[in-house]
Amino acid sequence: MKAPIALGIAIGVSQVQAALDAEALTQQYFGNDAPWYIDRIPLFESSDADITKVYYYRWSIFRAHQRDLGANGFISTEFLNNVGWQTNPWASLNDATGFHLLEGRWCRDRRFKEDYATFMYSSNSNTRQYSESMATSIWQGYLVDGVASDATSRLISMQSVYNAWDDSYDKSKSLYWVEPLRDATEYTISSIDATGGADGFTGGNSFRPSINSYQYANAKAIANLAALKGGMQSTVDSFNSKASSIRSNVQKSLWNSTFVHFIDRFQVNNSYVRYWDPIRGRELVGYVPWTHDLPDDTAAYAQAWKHVLNSNELAGPHGLRTVEPSYQYFMRQYRYEGSNLECQWNGPVWPYQTTQVLTGLANFLDHYPTGTTTGVIGTADYTRLLKQYAQLHYNPKRGGVLDLQEDYHPDTGAPIVGLKRSPHYFHSGFVDVVLSGFVGIRASANDVLVVNPLASTSSITYFRADRVLYHGHDIAVQWDATGSRYGQKGLQVEVDGKVVASSPNLASLNVTVSRVSPPAITRPIAKSIQLQATTAYPKGSVSVSGADTNAVHSAIDGRIFFYPETDVANGWDTPTGNGNELWFQIDFGASTAVSRAEIAFFANADQGFDAPDKYRVQVNTGSWVDVSSEKYAAAVANGITAVSWNSATVNQIRILFTPKSGKKVRLVEFKVY
Ligand SMILES: *[C@@H]1O[C@H](CO)[C@@H](O)[C@H](O)[C@H]1NC(C)=O
Ligand SMILES: *[C@@H]1O[C@H](CO)[C@@H](O)[C@H](O)[C@H]1NC(C)=O
Ligand SMILES: *[C@@H]1O[C@H](CO)[C@@H](O)[C@H](O)[C@H]1NC(C)=O
Repeated sequence: MKAPIALGIAIGVSQVQAALDAEALTQQYFGNDAPWYIDRIPLFESSDADITKVYYYRWSIFRAHQRDLGANGFISTEFLNNVGWQTNPWASLNDATGFHLLEGRWCRDRRFKEDYATFMYSSNSNTRQYSESMATSIWQGYLVDGVASDATSRLISMQSVYNAWDDSYDKSKSLYWVEPLRDATEYTISSIDATGGADGFTGGNSFRPSINSYQYANAKAIANLAALKGGMQSTVDSFNSKASSIRSNVQKSLWNSTFVHFIDRFQVNNSYVRYWDPIRGRELVGYVPWTHDLPDDTAAYAQAWKHVLNSNELAGPHGLRTVEPSYQYFMRQYRYEGSNLECQWNGPVWPYQTTQVLTGLANFLDHYPTGTTTGVIGTADYTRLLKQYAQLHYNPKRGGVLDLQEDYHPDTGAPIVGLKRSPHYFHSGFVDVVLSGFVGIRASANDVLVVNPLASTSSITYFRADRVLYHGHDIAVQWDATGSRYGQKGLQVEVDGKVVASSPNLASLNVTVSRVSPPAITRPIAKSIQLQATTAYPKGSVSVSGADTNAVHSAIDGRIFFYPETDVANGWDTPTGNGNELWFQIDFGASTAVSRAEIAFFANADQGFDAPDKYRVQVNTGSWVDVSSEKYAAAVANGITAVSWNSATVNQIRILFTPKSGKKVRLVEFKVY
């Protein structure tokens, strides 16, 4: 697909940048892996280099965390490495799913979010492991793609997952409670104080703004989807009524007018803390109600936003603190893995909650008119906080490369945890924040698209997002303060290459977009995937004796990424090349029709890896023979090498290749169809 035609080229203006060049940008940011991205991602640029670069880096995170489960489709993972608490054999974790689905709603290839939603609502996943906002994320995905049938098909499971939280519902208060660990936020004020300051990894059950906002939003999503489906009026009514009850009780009971903030109340009752007492400090989680549009639009609630601007409160020098410095146990380190620091939520900056705050702030600035007239916070703050968040993605402990990790020291912006599992961690959003907030594409269920950019004119001179697939159309949004970037001054919205609305200022624009079906999803199923290093089929083996079993397995584990960090090395490494041909074989254990493969090789000059000199594919038809009518693409590294041949039905297939002299080959994945 080509980039949309260039627009608005003004005569007499030099240095005009036309519509974004998809080939050049995907090549620039993804190198040999550009073909994966070119038809899948919306393009974006802005006058802020950090926000622009991190936007593309975040698509690399999205791509890297797509795990192919074969017949079970794709899921998104939270960690690149296996961790002890994931749901096996898939490596799924439902705490991050809401973020994954919201990033995925902007992927032009809907397969990823749809496969993932199907999987997460199936009996294969653990939907009760953590608090979650899956139903609302699916609803918000529908707002972008406009495909009702996919979203409404999950209504039955959404309701059962929702209702399972009855076990955490306190009828006397009409609110949900949660253990902070199960909120994926261990060591909060409630969990630490419930131990008298001794620990706080587990325990500390409390009525939190998080779980109640998630259940509020999930209830609204279920009601909206049931209304969309039709013939389900009692479901619509019952879930709307649950939502409105949560909404009024969060405002009645979790708003603390002394702190001017939404805060937890204890559910636990022990010798340190009393049931229903409010906790004794502000936490960043107090903004999650706005992430889900829960609070009423009042001048009083709006005052909560001043805490993210106050350097004595939640505004750390390098990011938003999760707890304020005035808390007695702020930043006290409790938990270690060996001598390495472990995750805590008593002050560190977390991309996870920073994303929620930026989404909440975008909601506030977009559609809380009473609140915004107080002037407590504005787009200049929004843009500054987004840029600050973008800057966290550069890891000072790894020479400033793009490498997002778990949590950060608010004073330095350096990652705290830094374990083997930490590089390129995916438990947050950025693409969604940029497109729905900074660019302001406010997805909706009706045929009026509101574009309300929150980019601040005080710091942003231009931006353009294009190839955004919205209700089946290609949308572009462009801002140029002077006209020197795109040859057209002001804000404009394009639908399918035509300018349909414009404004001289960064204002909110309404555009009528009638719905058409987006391209159908294609779902090729890989036959080579083996999720765990077992002796089950399909089974990998190699020509080299004594090879590491886990490394051999990782070449058929459904994970493809090319990051250079050795902590997340992914694939089977050959010995250094000496001219000999080596092989990697897959035994399917049954006759299997195969006709093509996607081969992923890694390269890194410092580590001595390169693509092989040459390669070929053989099948075992009683003896090993080269595949016939073969089409071999030239071997590329850090991208996909595609091969196809005349279909053969065989039990075994192998790839043979010769590493370049003095170089190793890392076979990241040998994916066979
Ligand atoms: C909390 O514990 C105290 C002391 O044991 C007890 O008096 C009180 O009734 C308990 N409250 C609740 C709600 O269980
Ligand atoms: C807010 O919470 C604190 C406890 O942390 C409590 O002392 C105060 O009374 C609460 N304010 C209101 C208005 O309930
Ligand atoms: C724009 O559309 C939104 C949502 O449909 C609506 O609430 C708003 O009134 C519209 N604004 C204008 C100026 O038409």
